[in-house]
Amino acid sequence: MAITILAIESSCDDTSAAVIRDGYVLSNLVAGQDIHRSYGGVVPELASRAHQANIVPVTDQAINRAGVKKNDIQAVAFTRGPGLLGSLLVGTSFAKGFALSLGVPLIEVNHLHAHILVHFIKGKDNTNIPRFPFLCLLVSGGHTKIVLMKDYLDMQVLGTTIDDAAGEAFDKCGKLMGFDYPAGPLIDKMSSGADKNAFSFSKPVIRGLDFSFSGLKTSFLYFLRDRLKEDPDFIENNKPDLCASLQHTIVSVLVSKLVKASSVTGIKEIGIAGGVSANSELKRAVRAESENRKWNLFIPEPGFSTDNAAMIGIAGYYKYLRGEFASQDIYPLARF
Ligand code: KG4
Ligand code: ZN
Repeated sequence: MAITILAIESSCDDTSAAVIRDGYVLSNLVAGQDIHRSYGGVVPELASRAHQANIVPVTDQAINRAGVKKNDIQAVAFTRGPGLLGSLLVGTSFAKGFALSLGVPLIEVNHLHAHILVHFIKGKDNTNIPRFPFLCLLVSGGHTKIVLMKDYLDMQVLGTTIDDAAGEAFDKCGKLMGFDYPAGPLIDKMSSGADKNAFSFSKPVIRGLDFSFSGLKTSFLYFLRDRLKEDPDFIENNKPDLCASLQHTIVSVLVSKLVKASSVTGIKEIGIAGGVSANSELKRAVRAESENRKWNLFIPEPGFSTDNAAMIGIAGYYKYLRGEFASQDIYPLARF
């Protein structure tokens, strides 16, 4: 019998619901929250309230679009963490209530694990999924990690950021240039056709497979401050080149660590995941490395990089197959 899972994601500022059947995505709806745009980052209390307003209509639409009935749902998967506690509480409480009312099991999912498992969503080309061991660069607004997947449910973090995440570097530097939140996609767009070597910023020197981005943010801030003294319109006059140079700096740090991780482990099954994996320069750069180094490379399809419930559903599916269910007294975890 087919396994149909309703998945709920509410860890940050996107309310999402999806229906997954046997590893295939039947529907995947995401309601974003424009309210944070002018604040330069996500405001936790506003995010939590917006989740409360969005979760019922989003879930309703996900079930309708999937063409399934509530009684077809055999489990409810939800993001337990990491994320904003107020946001996670909305999704967790909703998932618990939904599962209880249907009399089906609950499945708790780690948001980071789910970002990586998007590569295991079944599609038209069912055979093109990574083999284990699989190495994934996970780059989002809150996390920057290199993760070794030994199996669907067995992950080991090989490197992590010691301060800011890559997405945070995009968003914070973007804010300094006057961009709304999230600045990552806007910087990506503005960089198109611009000179990525126009300006250079100091790159962090961190040993091993760890990352650091707070120094880059400071160096970008001082650079702008000095240039603005000479030309008050410096940002406006140089925005595309500034964006392209900043993007190039962040991407080259990420890619050099991924290359290092592949050399150290000898693994050539390589993927990128998380919101920043939507970045066009990062995709271009990993594709170039992949050709040189004969990697078997996996890049998420559009819509599967940034937060979405389909990724929670696929993680839920593999946990369902192993019988890993949660009890009704489960609570969310801001740090997981
Ligand atoms: O995975 P995600 O949706 O949420 C978290 O789990 O954090 O990632 C959001 C992050 C934001 O920092 C956003 O600026 C960044 O992903 N992002 C991008 C792009 N699209 C999203 N950064 C650079 N280029 C993009 N195209
Ligand atoms: Zn995420």
